[in-house]
Amino acid sequence: MPIPAAPDAPARLVVLVSGGGTNLQALLDATADPAYGAEVVAVGADRDGIAGLDRATARGVPTFVERVGAHPDRAAWDAALTARVAAHEPDLVVLAGFMKLVGAAFLDRFGGRVVNTHPALSPAFPGMRGPADALAYGVKITGATLFVVDAGVDTGPIVAQTAVPVADDDDVETLHERIKTAERAMLVEAVGRMVRDGYTITDRKVRFS
Ligand code: GAR
Repeated sequence: MPIPAAPDAPARLVVLVSGGGTNLQALLDATADPAYGAEVVAVGADRDGIAGLDRATARGVPTFVERVGAHPDRAAWDAALTARVAAHEPDLVVLAGFMKLVGAAFLDRFGGRVVNTHPALSPAFPGMRGPADALAYGVKITGATLFVVDAGVDTGPIVAQTAVPVADDDDVETLHERIKTAERAMLVEAVGRMVRDGYTITDRKVRFS
């Protein structure tokens, strides 16, 4: 997967968020160094009034919001989101705490170039409650997974994973915070390698070039 399209230009990242945006912030901080090889050209969200959008604005990065409720159905929302993202001509789309599943139109347009970060060690605990489900199951190790988005729920080819211990006295919040600290480092490292080195996907195996 050659990234970016122009050899010496930084790769263009569009980041989608739904909340606090600490993963976005880690990318914004990393991309401040030209050697990282990427720039965040836009940040999109599915809702207004979130810290993630404020983080982008504080850096002068353009933002957009596409709410599901503003469209007659999910497919119309997906088409609108696709157009919004496409307008920024991304080399890579990063879902960083984006709490919606992208649909067929989005994947037709950007398939293979969309990554999502998930707060669990896939294939365990897919879905919206990764830290809570890991805690309830009683695992001793959990973590975070960066994967290339496919049509399933957290099922795509794995780019990177990071492991985190579960403490006896963890609640969902303390566990998720420990995961997020490791997750941000993993995200920055793996996205940097994707854009600088390129990558291939063969039989689910993601390899940097
Ligand atoms: C992150 O832990 C991310 O993995 C998770 O939301 C958090 C967002 O934190 N995403 C999901 O659970 C998606 N299923 P942030 O807004 O501070 O980056």
